[in-house]
Amino acid sequence: MIDSPSARGGRQLLESLERSGVTHLARPVESVVLQPKDSEMPIAGGDDPPGGAGGLEEMARSVAACQRCQELAETRTQTVFGVGDPDAKILFVGEAPGADEDRLGEPFVGRAGKLLDKIITACGLQREQIYICNILKCRPPGNRNPSPEEAGNCREFLDAQITAVAPEYIVCWGSVAAKNLLDSTETIGRLRRKFFEYGAAKVLCTYHPSYLLRNPSAKKDVWEDMQMLFADMGVTLTGNQ
Ligand code: URA
Repeated sequence: MIDSPSARGGRQLLESLERSGVTHLARPVESVVLQPKDSEMPIAGGDDPPGGAGGLEEMARSVAACQRCQELAETRTQTVFGVGDPDAKILFVGEAPGADEDRLGEPFVGRAGKLLDKIITACGLQREQIYICNILKCRPPGNRNPSPEEAGNCREFLDAQITAVAPEYIVCWGSVAAKNLLDSTETIGRLRRKFFEYGAAKVLCTYHPSYLLRNPSAKKDVWEDMQMLFADMGVTLTGNQ
């Protein structure tokens, strides 16, 4: 049997879930072929949708020069705009860059990012198939939570990313992402396990990978959330109860 990176990553996540006490899981398919977004179905005479890679690159340049939050602009190494497929069907939103992201200019590349990559792989996808960004594009000093003012200043950029990518699904990783995007005061525990709407996208909220690093037993909850997301997309995550 070929031990593909996808299969290996999935097995590692499953082993790690097992160590956290999860004994019954749906088995992810080895490779998931995402259907094109509905908006990409060929329309006779239709024009390309606005945004796309060009629009995002231009936006990233404006963000790189942003001075709206003085403290963040003074302390950042660089802004961290977003990465991934500009036509992604799924968009991930995290909280804000940490030290590794600030250094490398890419979201989710530190320890939490490595775990996120494992979750993506366990779902049969590759990181490049998703668009990944954060509520804030600058690292808050000491990794403190973004202030409401900072999140407000950055919101225009997040909304522009969502408009450009036009995802069918948005996953909010952690309470900062979920509460900010949905303008909610509910806990992440209460925001999980249901779909919200944000524009044309369905939004699912789940625990942040950093939380999973501290609380491995919550991995099973995140896995259930992923199952819910994929089930809604009609993608088969076959059960092996
Ligand atoms: N945590 C986040 O929320 N975003 C990142 O980019 C990295 C860690």
